Amino acid sequence: MPPFFDVRPSAQPIAVAERLARMADPGFGRVFTDHMAVIRWSEADGWHDAHIAARAPLVMDPASSVFHYAQEIFEGMKAYRLADGGTALFRPTANARRFRDSASRMAMPELPEALFVEAIERLVAIDRDWVPASGVEGSLYLRPFQIASEVFLGVKPSTEYLFMVIASTVGAYWKGGERAISCWVSPDHTRAAPGGTGAAKCGGNYAASLLAQKEAIAQGCDQVVFLDAVERRWVEELGGMNLFFVFDDGSVATPPLTGTILPGITRDSLLTIARDLGVAVREERYAVDQWRADATSGRLAEAFACGTAAVVTTIGEVQDAQGRFTIGGGRAGPVTTALRDALLAIQRGVAADPHGWLHRL
Ligand code: PLP
Ligand code: COI
Repeated sequence: MPPFFDVRPSAQPIAVAERLARMADPGFGRVFTDHMAVIRWSEADGWHDAHIAARAPLVMDPASSVFHYAQEIFEGMKAYRLADGGTALFRPTANARRFRDSASRMAMPELPEALFVEAIERLVAIDRDWVPASGVEGSLYLRPFQIASEVFLGVKPSTEYLFMVIASTVGAYWKGGERAISCWVSPDHTRAAPGGTGAAKCGGNYAASLLAQKEAIAQGCDQVVFLDAVERRWVEELGGMNLFFVFDDGSVATPPLTGTILPGITRDSLLTIARDLGVAVREERYAVDQWRADATSGRLAEAFACGTAAVVTTIGEVQDAQGRFTIGGGRAGPVTTALRDALLAIQRGVAADPHGWLHRL
């Protein structure tokens, strides 16, 4: 049997000097590699036409259903250069699993996990020179996504899909490097309601978050924090990151996975690392009024946001309708720093990997 993936290397890869110039200060999500992975799905053929090809614009019919009804899902993950010179993915099967869950929620065909991982492995293999050296902050950010490509304006699940992976050399997510961020608690907008799509990684969730994020910026804050849609009371997550709270007794809490927040892989990893470090962890609801009261009294010592792109980022200040409050002096605290360092050490291959999270390439 021929291999399922057809690898067609680019005839015009970016010249070495130009690649190095682009990789020097890549920022986030603007520097792309030479190739992309593609797999198609149709009712008749299932998953087929798997290939790696030169990265190129897509030609799509304007009536493709993704443009109208937003049947789209994506993932975000990273390939890291390890201390020993090797390259690894971090928990790729967890992303593959979540991608299937997102597909199921959006009435899309589920890509088998092995194919998801193989597409990424093959793309990173051919574009390995785009993975930054070890010892620097950068990594190769991978963006798998799946779109409805049937040419039809009726509202129904598409009968054709395109799965793709693109890759982007990235540095720090935040402009200006590592610093504490400020958060605006949106009084008017929610991200996800019970029964909705909050636990799926679908583009529509992000489109719906942008107005609130714009308001956060207008309020002089970096990011929006969403409250639950029913009581407008419980702190859920940011537009693209989960939330953690660190208390003065050293314990750590994060909102539970009730179906309205994204089950972050960084979140899950940090819960595990915290337990390994002997930290008491709780998945429990946290009210915004309590957040303010605890930050003011000092019961809340630290807060941070986490995700693949943003890693672990201190939340120094929060603003809601009642005004601003500061957490832990507005600086990164010892628990946040310890958890971040422990996670990075595993991802970079400089610490033991007791849970087998590194997937060497
Ligand atoms: N919450 C949202 C809404 C996100 O977009 C992300 C980023 O992917 C996360 C949380 C964190 O998830 P992960 O740690 O898997 O990247
Ligand atoms: C990620 O962390 O991978 C995301 O998808 C979130 C986005 C803000 C970049």
